[in-house]
Amino acid sequence: MTTRQRIAITPGDGIGPEVIGEAVRCLEALRERRQLALDWETFDWPSHRWHEQHGEVMPDDALDRLRAFDAILLGALGDPGPTSNPNRHLLPDSISLAPLLQMRKGFDQWVCERPARLLPGARQYLADDRAKDIDMLVIRENSEGEYVGQGGRLRPGSQDEVATQMEVFTRRATERIIRYGFEQARLRARRRAEEGHTRTFETLDGRTCESQVCIVTKRNALRYWGDMYTEAFETIAKEYPDVATHHELVDAACMKFVQAPWAFDVVVASNLQGDILTDLAAVLSGGMGVAPSCNLNPDNPDLPSMFEPTHGSAPDIAGEGLADPTAMLFTTARMLQWLGREDRALLQAGDALYDAVASDLADHGGERRDTKTIGDSVLGRLE
Ligand code: IPM
Ligand code: MN
Repeated sequence: MTTRQRIAITPGDGIGPEVIGEAVRCLEALRERRQLALDWETFDWPSHRWHEQHGEVMPDDALDRLRAFDAILLGALGDPGPTSNPNRHLLPDSISLAPLLQMRKGFDQWVCERPARLLPGARQYLADDRAKDIDMLVIRENSEGEYVGQGGRLRPGSQDEVATQMEVFTRRATERIIRYGFEQARLRARRRAEEGHTRTFETLDGRTCESQVCIVTKRNALRYWGDMYTEAFETIAKEYPDVATHHELVDAACMKFVQAPWAFDVVVASNLQGDILTDLAAVLSGGMGVAPSCNLNPDNPDLPSMFEPTHGSAPDIAGEGLADPTAMLFTTARMLQWLGREDRALLQAGDALYDAVASDLADHGGERRDTKTIGDSVLGRLE
């Protein structure tokens, strides 16, 4: 018997509840038609209101309650509050977005996967038509690095103020994220072979491989972690002779993402560098409106992974029914695939949702449509 998978849905702020609404409609349809072993519960914790009422952006025991679930589906976080009302204080991003980082850390979601594939119908920002071949997976180290939140401010506000912000890189987290990158490269090569469209990548010694991992650092200036990343990468690469390897400095990587993004396959980057690269990668593959993201804990099935689109809460268009739910729906598809690692029906439901969203995009990408129209179209394609 398959165990029922349980999802915690946190719609969050801004456009979050609207795009989540479309995700829930799709989940309902899939569950009913395919008899999925799937349940969900919604936690309505809009950060601004919660903060006003309780002085916190989410309940004290939020992480304890979320821990019991198999996955978290998150809409978007971030709400500066209504600027029109001077009596309501603004909630800075560093506070309203904190739950995101607390979940990533608290549930050891050490992988952040951000695929960037320019699908038919998606907006093509690059003029070069080879952009149609953009298909990369950026893997962001999600547990440490520049995001450890250690440091402080000494003598704040004074001319003698000192601010420190520490970066921490451990051998353990470095090795596991690099190994994850190589495994994904192999998997992608296998899938491409099954679908009959192989890609080729040259190695430095002139061999041809069907997948590639590019590691990103800034080792010419930040040499301590840069050197550790490089050494770990070279050692682990020996276990994967079938995968081509490549290194880019992060600034050059930005340039090459624009110049020749179709040359990348899997990219592994640190937390902050991966954050920056994935906004760029999102635009290269159609923009924030279509970019999915997920935060995974691949080795502890007792802790939930978290699925959220790369985009933010877009407070400027919140509540108007105008937000594009495409990224949220792609993210939901990825969640079902993840939950379906041991349940074929869930896996197939994830694939079906992905195909439905991609087919809607191919037919209607570029049209001005509201949230519900896009949701209706995707629902209609879930046969
Ligand atoms: C993201 C976001 C977050 C991050 C912010 C909101 C803290 O930019 O998910 O990419 O930097 O990780
Ligand atoms: Mn970001």
